[in-house]
Amino acid sequence: MNATPSPPAPFPAGEGSQSPSPPAPLPAGVGSEALIELREVTKVYGQGPAEFQALRGVNLRIDPGEFVAIMGPSGSGKSTAMNILGCLDSPTSGAYLFRGLHVERLSRNQRALLRRYYLGFVFQGFNLLARTTALENVELPLLYRGEPRAARHARAREALDAVGLGQWEQHTPAELSGGQQQRVAIARAIVTHPTILLADEPTGNLDRHSAEQVFELMLELNRDLGTSFVVVTHDSGLAARMDAVWRLADGVLVKESC
Ligand SMILES: Nc1ncnc2c1ncn2[C@@H]1O[C@H](COP(=O)(O)OP(=O)(O)O)[C@@H](O)[C@H]1O
Ligand SMILES: [Mg+2]
Repeated sequence: MNATPSPPAPFPAGEGSQSPSPPAPLPAGVGSEALIELREVTKVYGQGPAEFQALRGVNLRIDPGEFVAIMGPSGSGKSTAMNILGCLDSPTSGAYLFRGLHVERLSRNQRALLRRYYLGFVFQGFNLLARTTALENVELPLLYRGEPRAARHARAREALDAVGLGQWEQHTPAELSGGQQQRVAIARAIVTHPTILLADEPTGNLDRHSAEQVFELMLELNRDLGTSFVVVTHDSGLAARMDAVWRLADGVLVKESC
């Protein structure tokens, strides 16, 4: 598998440019610290009587190449935390550092670029476009980056090969099993060679066998490409095989000794 890293991420000096041309690197000197840190992150939904505090001062550290699980009962704030890590939502207060860079201080546009060049996201529900082939689904993140057609095809094929679906590129989601659809979603997430892949209950809709296959695939990508993973799971058997397990309860995250 070709493990060439993506171009360094784009934090243009001026106002965020939409240009797909080679992005500016992350500020110099970063890289020695944690890949990701959350410091006292809170998230409050709603206002007044409808106010609900989903995260109450979450601290988290993920090192480069680490494969970690987040566990916790339904409603404990796992998806809220994942959406913040994935720059799909912002914390109410606290700090989110990505390689020492304060994400909460970035502009909306810069956060979008961080998402596009560094982060991959996999959802429980696969979230593939229907009536669109596996290959086209996997190409999508590259289309957003403005990459030329030939390069998109080549990289999407490579990603589909990596998840063992090279023969299925012309199939639409409806023609694929749940496990295969989730592997397409993983191919779509890795096609950009993200630094970290965030997966929110990626095996939650899968049968035992498919779940095991998807999990093995994530471990392999972690090993072969050095991609870091944060995986939300209810499966303690799978979690026990990861580098670290973090448990969320009542909006507070605690690292389990393992
Ligand atoms: N957009 C929202 N508006 C209001 N409350 C929300 C919203 N999203 C999540 N919540 C609430 O925040 C809590 C945590 O939700 P979530 O992060 O989805 O938990 P989990 O993924 O652990 O099941 C739940 O009580 C949920 O109802
Ligand atoms: Mg959830």
